Amino acid sequence: MAPWIDLPYEIRNVTPEEDKIIKKCLIGYTKPFVKCGKNEYVMPAAFRKHAEAIYNLEVRPDDVWVITFPRSGTTWTQEMVWLIENDLDFKAAKEKPLYERFPMLETTAHIPRMAFELIKANFMNLAYFQGLNHAVRNPSWRSIAEAPSPRFIKTHLPLSLLPPKLLSTAKVIYVARDPRDVAVSYYYLHKMVSKTLMRSTFLNFWEAFRRDLLPWTPIVAHTNEAWEKRHNPNLHFIFYEDMIKDLPKEIRTVCKFLNKKYSAEQIEELAEYLSFDSLRKNKSVNNTTGENSDVQFLRKGEAGGWKTHFDAEMELQAEEFLSTRLQGLDLSYPSFPLYENECSHL
Ligand code: A3P
Repeated sequence: MAPWIDLPYEIRNVTPEEDKIIKKCLIGYTKPFVKCGKNEYVMPAAFRKHAEAIYNLEVRPDDVWVITFPRSGTTWTQEMVWLIENDLDFKAAKEKPLYERFPMLETTAHIPRMAFELIKANFMNLAYFQGLNHAVRNPSWRSIAEAPSPRFIKTHLPLSLLPPKLLSTAKVIYVARDPRDVAVSYYYLHKMVSKTLMRSTFLNFWEAFRRDLLPWTPIVAHTNEAWEKRHNPNLHFIFYEDMIKDLPKEIRTVCKFLNKKYSAEQIEELAEYLSFDSLRKNKSVNNTTGENSDVQFLRKGEAGGWKTHFDAEMELQAEEFLSTRLQGLDLSYPSFPLYENECSHL
């Protein structure tokens, strides 16, 4: 067992004004949200209790991790990675929910206090969403720590809040997506679980998003941490938009990264299985709150859909948001290339 490391970063409460902005969007969280580390990643207060155990999680050489900001194509990538690593066993994939095959590290830390006890008593549809009912009984990081190898681990935490030996030990795939599409998709995710967690309009939500005041924000810093490490042989960086453009090509690069060989036909078969229409029908992947909601976990599956949700003013705000956050960074998004940033500074 490696020696226990104290957290090398600070966790502090957001200001009361910031807390109000967050809670205008999300309900059920009784304590003030917190900001973590120098990039000030926002998390629910419960993260305080779990941060150190997460940071100290023993990473194994045969782990495969998928790291993303929420709504960036995590589920899509997880299913791809799991199948590539498991000899394209489509039958086994359909038999067990993805959240059990590929659990999320910090689930317990983001269950709102109000929902916690209700989920424990299974008195809520939310209990059947993404394994929340298990996470309230046994912290997600603990069940991951106790799981047999090989492990598949999903997290929305940025690299700086994760075990420091992660990249020198295990394989990590990071997926990034245009923050404007993420904002819209993130809003609908909360709407899907709306009865318990959300009361805002998209406008409120966008206000909080662009002020980096929602869980796991700031999104650009989050992505930049991985972008800076993209040449590390244990990190594979993908843009969601590239998966939309040419999925078989992205599958091939992931196979190469994971040292797996499949024929052209098998890659085609996997791409077909992973297509939006097929995954949407797949109950083991498209997990909902159990209600007949028309908003589902797999919602639209397109790049650039944000345009139908932003008016001219919001579009300008988004441009300003992206250009200021990207300023001085080497990172740019395929759908927001660097030269456009430079133009918008003229
Ligand atoms: P939308 O809400 O824009 O449709 P995550 O898994 O990180 O929460 O990301 C969810 C987003 O990925 C959703 O975006 C979802 O539709 C999209 N997605 C999932 N599977 C997809 C697929 N096969 N093709 C395209 N998009 C997909």
